[in-house]
Amino acid sequence: GAPVEVDISKIEPGMILNVEWRGKPVWIVNRTKDMLDLLSKHDDKLVDPKSEMMQQPEYAKNATRSIKPEFLVAVGVCTHLGCSPTFRKEVGAADLGADWPGGFFCPCHGSKFDLAARVFQGVPAPTNLVIPPHKYLSDSRILIG
Ligand code: FES
Repeated sequence: GAPVEVDISKIEPGMILNVEWRGKPVWIVNRTKDMLDLLSKHDDKLVDPKSEMMQQPEYAKNATRSIKPEFLVAVGVCTHLGCSPTFRKEVGAADLGADWPGGFFCPCHGSKFDLAARVFQGVPAPTNLVIPPHKYLSDSRILIG
């Protein structure tokens, strides 16, 4: 499939944009400072907190799993059986477990991911969600693929 160029300038802080790449959903989330601050608070509850299982390109192998801290770019396909998780950004989504700070919830079998798309322990998904190859063409445009 061809690379997909996306204008990210209209994504408000805290919001998500869904695009399609190679027939798959790709999410782009403009993470606020509060969202980014949360990422370091639950390492002990994650399967792969440092993302060492090759679920992202080298340039996204860092604490935020991204090129620019604020923008998460992730393939929105659950690593369990391929459903598409739902964006649940609210902090302390208590109905989904008090220890989960919000992020992405898979409705099929209950897997939970944080705002860096890292999987929580005790759910069926084995690995973090995949970060697709991508790059910045300018401050407002990225190329996925
Ligand atoms: Fe997501 Fe099973 S497909 S938890």
